[in-house]
Amino acid sequence: MNPYSGIRNSSKEDTIFTFSRTSLTLTDYIEFSRLTQKSDSSQIEALFVEAGACSITVEGADQQIHLEEDHCSTPWEIVKLSALFDPTALDLESIRKIQSDLTEFPLSESLRFRKLGIRNWDEEWKKHIQPTIVNDCIWIGPTWDKPDLEYRHIVHIDPGLAFGTGNHETTSLCLEVLANHALDDVGVVDFGCGTGILGIVSCILGARYSIGVDIDPNAIEVANRNAEQNDVERQFKAHLLEEFLNTGELRSAKHNVVVANILTSTLIEHSRTLKDLVADQGTLILSGILANQSQAVSDAYRDAFDFSILQRGDWVALTGIRRENESG
Ligand SMILES: C[S@@+](CC[C@H](N)C(=O)[O-])C[C@H]1O[C@@H](n2cnc3c(N)ncnc32)[C@H](O)[C@@H]1O
Repeated sequence: MNPYSGIRNSSKEDTIFTFSRTSLTLTDYIEFSRLTQKSDSSQIEALFVEAGACSITVEGADQQIHLEEDHCSTPWEIVKLSALFDPTALDLESIRKIQSDLTEFPLSESLRFRKLGIRNWDEEWKKHIQPTIVNDCIWIGPTWDKPDLEYRHIVHIDPGLAFGTGNHETTSLCLEVLANHALDDVGVVDFGCGTGILGIVSCILGARYSIGVDIDPNAIEVANRNAEQNDVERQFKAHLLEEFLNTGELRSAKHNVVVANILTSTLIEHSRTLKDLVADQGTLILSGILANQSQAVSDAYRDAFDFSILQRGDWVALTGIRRENESG
């Protein structure tokens, strides 16, 4: 079975909702879209995310019908990327920045934008969240989806106002590493927890405890609710970054596994904090990294970790064991 069946590839009509980080309500949205080469799409996606997009859609834009090949990437050579922005959160400066950032990519078409009429975005968006299957044994899906009981572990993750359904490559890479790791009785930190998906799955796979950390109060609420939903609220608790850093015993403890799926710049900026959280011989999993950024991330952690790389499409995850007796 395809472990990434949450990602649908088939014909040009198919659409992949790669992520939605906010609740899309009954309202108007501004949509930016442009055609781009498949090879540039992840970088452009990252630009839109940085500019505050609340949802991104990738569609095939050519006329070919493609057969599934590796199940892991979009099958189209030319894709249409559409990003939805809440107009109240978008200023002229951000629009100018998007336009100027995009000039570095060869243009087959300039950036288009349009105002979308009122629609019930929550319902539209729900249709595109597909269950994710990990290692043929874990089913992860929202509570409104009916789980396939043939899987050994069933995990219900509702995204609410946070990122992390399992559908995005950066999350599924971490899930794959976690599912292949011995998690029995270990302590885990899920840094940049979003919905709590990685920490909650770790608990379901046997972790003694898992601590979620995020800068977004919505994520904390969603993650703790998802923990309750999966009956792991005694093992998993999410904290705001500030609270985590200012609570002595949370900050100073060392953990067997630390997983962080955040943007590359944040992984580099917080390298000291992340290194310090990993126990000697503990495992660090870093994701949210485009293949061409992996060297910069490895360099920031080189004093304490040698990494192995797992790649899916344009994205990579780095996994390393902390060397003993290194101060980091
Ligand atoms: C890409 S999402 C990952 C969510 C989930 N862990 C997953 O794998 O799907 C990144 C998360 O990191 C959070 N974040 C961003 N900067 C952060 C920081 N400096 N410290 C902690 N969390 C941060 C964001 O709010 C977001 O929820």
